Amino acid sequence: MSVPIWLDCDPGHDDVLAVFVAAHAAELVGISAVSGNAPLHRTVANALIAVQLAELDVPVHAGAAKPLTREARHAAHIHGESGLGGPVLPEVTRRADPTPAVRALLDAAEARDDLWLVAVGPLTNVALALTLEPALAERLAGISLMGGAWGPGNITAAAEFNVWADPEAAQIVFESGANLVMAGLDLTHQFLIDRERIERVRALGGRVARFSAELLDFFVEAYERSYGEAIGPLHDPCSVLAVTHPQLFASERRHVAVERRGELTRGMTVVDRRSGGMPEAPNTTLLTRIDDAGAFEALVAALGALP
Ligand code: BDR
Ligand code: CA
Repeated sequence: MSVPIWLDCDPGHDDVLAVFVAAHAAELVGISAVSGNAPLHRTVANALIAVQLAELDVPVHAGAAKPLTREARHAAHIHGESGLGGPVLPEVTRRADPTPAVRALLDAAEARDDLWLVAVGPLTNVALALTLEPALAERLAGISLMGGAWGPGNITAAAEFNVWADPEAAQIVFESGANLVMAGLDLTHQFLIDRERIERVRALGGRVARFSAELLDFFVEAYERSYGEAIGPLHDPCSVLAVTHPQLFASERRHVAVERRGELTRGMTVVDRRSGGMPEAPNTTLLTRIDDAGAFEALVAALGALP
């Protein structure tokens, strides 16, 4: 029996790959979109494109159009203005489900005991759901999230994009008491895509694989422009794989808190990795190592199995 997953995302190149991996390796129950890499209307459309291309019978729900207290900020420098720069995007023929994301997520969690929430965008929808229904933290099997870092950030020296975009939401999630699994940048930068791997994906030949390869061409070029090397970290699939392929990971139990006020450190995750002294009580399973080759094979298996 495959694990049931709700995917909250802001597609986003790597978010789309997370949809594809979840569709293949899990029971993908629903998708909610949030403002993040691109404005909400785009992340909803991009999620619909992903389910349409993969011919999935999975509802897509629109969530928050902006962070809890801050203005929406996007990541066009990596993902393009549409959020999915690169391939010619198909006309969107699917329609979003009219039930708002938070309601739909709460209903899905209520309907079963074993639902994993995989959250790979800013945590606004998740924080709203936990605020409306704090018992959600207990209802869920866990929350596997992509966000934060214990080393350097990406959007700033200190902060990772998803947590930086809505630090107040992230803090609510880290304080929720849920079974949290964190894939921060130090982990996701171990799962890398380069041009050779992109050709392996393209050679799979199907529609989903070819679309993914075109997404990755753009993604790797964006990383080359921004960071000087044509190698991109596959952030968001890590959080799906942490649920579907836990044997690929090593982890530590740690306390994580979010800096919300610092002048230079807004959105930084403060990960207590002290081995001595008096570390804070752990609230998070911090993923520390991923088997990069094994993760790539899992991605290839998913893309090869889809239409
Ligand atoms: C995260 O931000 C987005 O650009 C990616 O989709 C990923 O979720 C990495 O910082
Ligand atoms: Ca994302």
